[in-house]
Amino acid sequence: TARGRCGGVAMAVFVTRRIPAEGLRVLSQAGGCRVHQWDSEEPVPRAELLAGVAGKRGLLCLLSDRIDREVLDAAGPGLKVISTMSVGFDHLALEEIKKRGIRVGYTPDVLTDATAELSVALLLAVCRRLPEAMEQVKNGGWTTWKPLWMCGYGLSNSTVGIVGLGRIGQAVARRLKPFGVKKFLYTGSHPKPETAAEFEAEFVPLTRLAKESDFIVVTCALTPATQGMCNKDFFSRMKKTSVFINTSRGAVVNQEDLYDALAHGQIAAAGLDVTTPEPLPTDHPLLSLKNCVILPHIGSATYATRSTMAVLAANNLLAGLQGEPMPHELLL
Ligand code: NDP
Ligand code: DGY
Repeated sequence: TARGRCGGVAMAVFVTRRIPAEGLRVLSQAGGCRVHQWDSEEPVPRAELLAGVAGKRGLLCLLSDRIDREVLDAAGPGLKVISTMSVGFDHLALEEIKKRGIRVGYTPDVLTDATAELSVALLLAVCRRLPEAMEQVKNGGWTTWKPLWMCGYGLSNSTVGIVGLGRIGQAVARRLKPFGVKKFLYTGSHPKPETAAEFEAEFVPLTRLAKESDFIVVTCALTPATQGMCNKDFFSRMKKTSVFINTSRGAVVNQEDLYDALAHGQIAAAGLDVTTPEPLPTDHPLLSLKNCVILPHIGSATYATRSTMAVLAANNLLAGLQGEPMPHELLL
């Protein structure tokens, strides 16, 4: 627990997890806020969250904390600032938050490179079957060099479809281009020719993106429009030889439909950094498939990125508490 004072008045804030020390240091050294923290690697239990937030002026939360009306009611009318240590904000009930005049900070940009890098790593691991191949080395499946063994799909001359050409989507395309991608397609709520020009990417409907892409990378935000967007219809339009990657949010994908598409060879393979729920139960059917690689939501997990995210989240919180412009405020 860190303490500080500003103008004689210390404002109480609740931090819902143990975060990188650099972030907490920003709060404790600033003066002006009294930090209460759920100081654990594990998520704060709901009851502790409701109790912890009561009477606080600020809340620093993570994507695993559902900040809804119940939490806002528990906090009371004194809550003025919510700072999430994430770029995604689908865990925040924005309507309710806006109604109460609470300001929101988030962490765009600082995690774009790390997440794009992980997206490319996952794509390559999936299309060249790295986890499966490593397993063969360990279990004796590697008997000799075989012309038809462990073959996958390469990026050279391929068509890549980006679902959501935002910060991360663009950073993924920028990294994939030098692999010899022939054509980029993208989809979103509207065309953005200036952004797309760098990749000569063509704006197409989701159905066409599904049909023509050899690789699909989902990097959109989770919204009511994108929830369950990658469903049976979507997978049925994909080529049998195509690879599907999701590093956005699990709920963009209908996992039963993805399972069917993978199990019946309707698509070649999938890589997911995000699932529903998280963690995915270890007996989940998707984990029984060789052509599905699942990572535990590690998109932004570099030491430097997580540290920067924590510092940014802390600075957003402080700025909000002091009534100043935040480094990154989510405009509601
Ligand atoms: P941006 O806001 O820059 O990009 C989000 C994109 O989603 C926008 O380009 C938007 O396109 C697109 N989008 C919105 N609606 C639709 C739609 N109906 N169909 C297709 N695309 C749509 O955010 P970031 O790139 O910074 O982050 C994207 C998401 O990635 C985050 O919201 C978060 O959920 C996830 N994420 C996951 C991480 C991980 O660890 N795996 C790490 C970081 C982020 P348009 O502009 O056309 O509306
Ligand atoms: C985010 O920030 O939204 C990611 O999912 C985790 O970094």
